[in-house]
Amino acid sequence: MDIEAVIFDLDGVLVHTDHHHYLAWKRMCDEEGIPFDEAINDRLRGISRMACVNIVLEKASRRYSQQEKMHLAERKNGYYKEKLQSLSAADLPSGIVETLDTLREKRIKLAVGSSSKNAPYILERLGLSRKFDVVADGNDICRSKPDPEVFLLAASKLGVRPDRCLVIEDAAAGVEAAFRGGMWVAAIGEACVCDMADYQIGQIEELLPILQANGSVAH
Ligand code: G6P
Ligand code: MG
Repeated sequence: MDIEAVIFDLDGVLVHTDHHHYLAWKRMCDEEGIPFDEAINDRLRGISRMACVNIVLEKASRRYSQQEKMHLAERKNGYYKEKLQSLSAADLPSGIVETLDTLREKRIKLAVGSSSKNAPYILERLGLSRKFDVVADGNDICRSKPDPEVFLLAASKLGVRPDRCLVIEDAAAGVEAAFRGGMWVAAIGEACVCDMADYQIGQIEELLPILQANGSVAH
Protein backbone atom coordinates (compact mmCIF):
# COMPACT_ATOMS: atom_id res chain seq x y z
CA MET A 1 0.00 0.00 0.00
CA ASP A 2 1.56 3.25 -1.16
CA ILE A 3 -0.72 6.20 -0.45
CA GLU A 4 0.00 9.43 -2.34
CA ALA A 5 -3.28 11.25 -1.63
CA VAL A 6 -5.97 11.42 1.03
CA ILE A 7 -9.49 12.34 -0.07
CA PHE A 8 -11.68 13.63 2.76
CA ASP A 9 -15.44 13.57 2.81
CA LEU A 10 -16.73 16.88 4.21
CA ASP A 11 -19.98 16.57 6.23
CA GLY A 12 -19.35 14.35 9.25
CA VAL A 13 -15.59 14.02 8.63
CA LEU A 14 -13.98 17.47 8.39
CA VAL A 15 -16.83 19.16 10.28
CA HIS A 16 -20.04 18.10 12.02
CA THR A 17 -22.39 19.73 9.56
CA ASP A 18 -24.06 16.29 9.51
CA HIS A 19 -25.91 17.51 12.62
CA HIS A 20 -26.93 20.72 10.83
CA HIS A 21 -28.32 18.56 7.98
CA TYR A 22 -30.28 16.57 10.58
CA LEU A 23 -31.76 19.71 12.17
CA ALA A 24 -32.78 21.14 8.78
CA TRP A 25 -34.51 17.93 7.63
CA LYS A 26 -36.14 17.57 11.06
CA ARG A 27 -37.56 21.10 10.90
CA MET A 28 -38.98 20.54 7.43
CA CYS A 29 -40.41 17.11 8.28
CA ASP A 30 -42.01 18.42 11.50
CA GLU A 31 -43.68 21.19 9.49
CA GLU A 32 -44.89 18.67 6.88
CA GLY A 33 -45.98 16.08 9.47
CA ILE A 34 -43.50 13.49 8.16
CA PRO A 35 -41.80 11.22 10.73
CA PHE A 36 -38.01 11.77 10.81
CA ASP A 37 -35.33 10.55 13.19
CA GLU A 38 -31.57 9.93 13.51
CA ALA A 39 -31.87 6.49 11.89
CA ILE A 40 -33.42 8.01 8.74
CA ASN A 41 -30.81 10.79 8.86
CA ASP A 42 -28.00 8.22 8.82
CA ARG A 43 -29.36 6.92 5.49
CA LEU A 44 -28.96 10.45 4.05
CA ARG A 45 -25.20 10.62 4.68
CA GLY A 46 -23.35 11.04 1.39
CA ILE A 47 -26.58 11.11 -0.66
CA SER A 48 -27.46 14.04 -2.96
CA ARG A 49 -30.13 16.51 -1.84
CA MET A 50 -32.82 15.32 -4.29
CA ALA A 51 -32.15 11.65 -3.55
CA CYS A 52 -32.50 12.50 0.16
CA VAL A 53 -35.98 13.91 -0.48
CA ASN A 54 -37.12 10.55 -1.86
CA ILE A 55 -35.79 8.73 1.24
CA VAL A 56 -37.41 11.27 3.59
CA LEU A 57 -40.76 10.89 1.78
CA GLU A 58 -40.85 7.11 2.29
CA LYS A 59 -42.68 7.87 5.58
CA ALA A 60 -45.01 10.54 4.14
CA SER A 61 -48.75 9.89 4.24
CA ARG A 62 -49.32 11.17 0.70
CA ARG A 63 -47.55 11.30 -2.65
CA TYR A 64 -45.61 14.42 -3.62
CA SER A 65 -45.26 15.66 -7.21
CA GLN A 66 -41.83 16.24 -8.74
CA GLN A 67 -42.32 19.99 -8.37
CA GLU A 68 -43.28 19.64 -4.71
CA LYS A 69 -40.18 17.51 -4.15
CA MET A 70 -38.00 20.23 -5.64
CA HIS A 71 -39.63 22.78 -3.35
CA LEU A 72 -38.99 20.54 -0.33
CA ALA A 73 -35.32 20.23 -1.32
CA GLU A 74 -35.03 24.02 -1.66
CA ARG A 75 -36.80 24.59 1.67
CA LYS A 76 -34.54 22.15 3.47
CA ASN A 77 -31.49 23.79 1.89
CA GLY A 78 -32.72 27.20 3.09
CA TYR A 79 -32.98 25.91 6.67
CA TYR A 80 -29.56 24.26 6.33
CA LYS A 81 -27.94 27.47 5.04
CA GLU A 82 -29.42 29.41 7.97
CA LYS A 83 -27.50 27.03 10.28
CA LEU A 84 -24.32 27.41 8.22
CA GLN A 85 -24.26 31.18 8.69
CA SER A 86 -22.85 30.77 12.20
CA LEU A 87 -20.22 28.23 11.10
CA SER A 88 -16.58 29.19 11.72
CA ALA A 89 -13.14 27.67 12.28
CA ALA A 90 -14.19 27.24 15.94
CA ASP A 91 -16.49 24.40 14.76
CA LEU A 92 -13.62 22.29 13.45
CA PRO A 93 -13.19 19.07 15.42
CA SER A 94 -9.87 18.79 17.26
CA GLY A 95 -6.99 17.48 15.19
CA ILE A 96 -8.32 18.39 11.74
CA VAL A 97 -6.03 21.35 10.97
CA GLU A 98 -3.00 19.65 12.54
CA THR A 99 -3.61 16.47 10.53
CA LEU A 100 -3.99 18.37 7.24
CA ASP A 101 -0.83 20.40 7.92
CA THR A 102 1.21 17.32 8.86
CA LEU A 103 0.07 15.37 5.80
CA ARG A 104 1.00 18.30 3.58
CA GLU A 105 4.46 18.53 5.20
CA LYS A 106 4.86 14.82 4.42
CA ARG A 107 4.03 15.51 0.74
CA ILE A 108 0.67 13.72 0.77
CA LYS A 109 -1.77 15.35 -1.67
CA LEU A 110 -5.07 16.47 -0.14
CA ALA A 111 -8.57 16.56 -1.63
CA VAL A 112 -12.18 16.96 -0.63
CA GLY A 113 -14.72 14.54 -2.16
CA SER A 114 -18.23 15.57 -1.13
CA SER A 115 -21.77 15.18 -2.54
CA SER A 116 -22.66 18.61 -1.16
CA LYS A 117 -23.28 21.63 -3.38
CA ASN A 118 -22.58 23.76 -0.28
CA ALA A 119 -19.03 22.39 0.05
CA PRO A 120 -17.17 25.48 -1.33
CA TYR A 121 -19.13 27.79 1.00
CA ILE A 122 -18.50 25.56 4.04
CA LEU A 123 -14.77 25.21 3.31
CA GLU A 124 -14.49 29.00 2.98
CA ARG A 125 -16.32 29.62 6.28
CA LEU A 126 -14.05 27.13 8.04
CA GLY A 127 -10.92 28.71 6.56
CA LEU A 128 -10.04 25.34 4.95
CA SER A 129 -10.27 26.20 1.23
CA ARG A 130 -6.54 26.69 0.74
CA LYS A 131 -5.61 23.54 2.68
CA PHE A 132 -6.64 21.26 -0.21
CA ASP A 133 -5.02 20.72 -3.58
CA VAL A 134 -8.41 20.04 -5.16
CA VAL A 135 -12.10 19.96 -4.28
CA ALA A 136 -14.64 17.72 -6.03
CA ASP A 137 -18.21 18.28 -4.86
CA GLY A 138 -21.90 18.05 -5.66
CA ASN A 139 -21.60 20.85 -8.23
CA ASP A 140 -19.21 18.77 -10.36
CA ILE A 141 -20.98 15.41 -10.54
CA CYS A 142 -24.07 13.72 -12.01
CA ARG A 143 -24.18 10.67 -9.72
CA SER A 144 -23.81 10.95 -5.95
CA LYS A 145 -22.30 8.32 -3.64
CA PRO A 146 -22.41 5.27 -3.60
CA ASP A 147 -21.34 5.94 -7.21
CA PRO A 148 -17.56 6.54 -7.21
CA GLU A 149 -17.78 9.57 -9.55
CA VAL A 150 -16.85 12.25 -6.99
CA PHE A 151 -13.80 10.36 -5.70
CA LEU A 152 -12.58 9.40 -9.19
CA LEU A 153 -12.91 13.05 -10.19
CA ALA A 154 -10.85 14.13 -7.15
CA ALA A 155 -8.16 11.54 -7.99
CA SER A 156 -8.04 12.59 -11.62
CA LYS A 157 -7.82 16.31 -10.69
CA LEU A 158 -4.91 15.38 -8.40
CA GLY A 159 -3.30 13.21 -11.06
CA VAL A 160 -3.07 10.28 -8.62
CA ARG A 161 -4.05 6.67 -9.42
CA PRO A 162 -7.16 5.51 -7.52
CA ASP A 163 -5.25 2.68 -5.84
CA ARG A 164 -2.86 5.28 -4.38
CA CYS A 165 -5.74 7.21 -2.74
CA LEU A 166 -7.12 6.77 0.77
CA VAL A 167 -10.69 8.03 1.33
CA ILE A 168 -11.97 9.07 4.78
CA GLU A 169 -15.73 8.59 5.12
CA ASP A 170 -18.51 8.70 7.73
CA ALA A 171 -21.19 7.37 5.35
CA ALA A 172 -21.90 3.80 4.29
CA ALA A 173 -22.64 5.16 0.80
CA GLY A 174 -19.24 6.90 0.79
CA VAL A 175 -17.35 3.79 1.89
CA GLU A 176 -19.04 1.87 -0.94
CA ALA A 177 -18.19 4.66 -3.42
CA ALA A 178 -14.49 4.53 -2.48
CA PHE A 179 -14.50 0.73 -2.67
CA ARG A 180 -16.15 0.78 -6.11
CA GLY A 181 -13.60 3.39 -7.21
CA GLY A 182 -10.77 1.01 -6.35
CA MET A 183 -9.50 3.18 -3.50
CA TRP A 184 -8.47 2.45 0.05
CA VAL A 185 -11.00 3.61 2.61
CA ALA A 186 -10.99 4.45 6.30
CA ALA A 187 -14.42 4.59 7.95
CA ILE A 188 -15.03 7.05 10.77
CA GLY A 189 -18.06 7.37 13.06
CA GLU A 190 -21.33 5.91 11.74
CA ALA A 191 -19.60 4.18 8.81
CA CYS A 192 -17.48 1.97 11.08
CA VAL A 193 -20.06 -0.81 10.82
CA CYS A 194 -19.37 -0.98 7.09
CA ASP A 195 -17.36 -4.09 6.22
CA MET A 196 -16.10 -2.66 2.91
CA ALA A 197 -13.76 -0.32 4.83
CA ASP A 198 -10.05 -1.18 5.09
CA TYR A 199 -9.70 0.73 8.36
CA GLN A 200 -12.01 1.91 11.13
CA ILE A 201 -10.99 5.03 13.02
CA GLY A 202 -12.57 6.71 16.03
CA GLN A 203 -11.10 10.13 15.31
CA ILE A 204 -8.97 11.88 12.71
CA GLU A 205 -5.81 11.72 14.86
CA GLU A 206 -5.66 7.99 14.08
CA LEU A 207 -5.05 8.67 10.39
CA LEU A 208 -1.36 9.60 10.52
CA PRO A 209 -0.31 6.47 12.49
CA ILE A 210 -2.05 4.33 9.81
CA LEU A 211 -0.05 6.01 7.03
CA GLN A 212 3.15 5.68 9.05
CA ALA A 213 2.49 2.00 9.81
CA ASN A 214 2.03 1.12 6.13
CA GLY A 215 5.10 3.09 5.07
CA SER A 216 3.28 5.79 3.07
CA VAL A 217 4.79 8.54 5.24
CA ALA A 218 7.92 8.63 7.37
CA HIS A 219 7.70 8.71 11.19
C1 G6P B 1 -23.35 15.31 1.96
C2 G6P B 1 -24.20 14.92 3.16
C3 G6P B 1 -25.60 14.54 2.72
C4 G6P B 1 -26.20 15.67 1.87
C5 G6P B 1 -25.34 15.87 0.64
C6 G6P B 1 -25.85 16.99 -0.24
O1 G6P B 1 -23.00 14.17 1.27
O2 G6P B 1 -23.63 13.84 3.85
O3 G6P B 1 -26.38 14.29 3.85
O4 G6P B 1 -27.52 15.35 1.50
O5 G6P B 1 -24.01 16.21 1.06
O6 G6P B 1 -25.68 18.21 0.45
P1 G6P B 1 -26.20 19.62 -0.02
O7 G6P B 1 -25.46 20.58 0.90
O8 G6P B 1 -25.83 19.80 -1.46
O9 G6P B 1 -27.67 19.64 0.20
MG1 MG C 1 -20.20 12.55 5.29
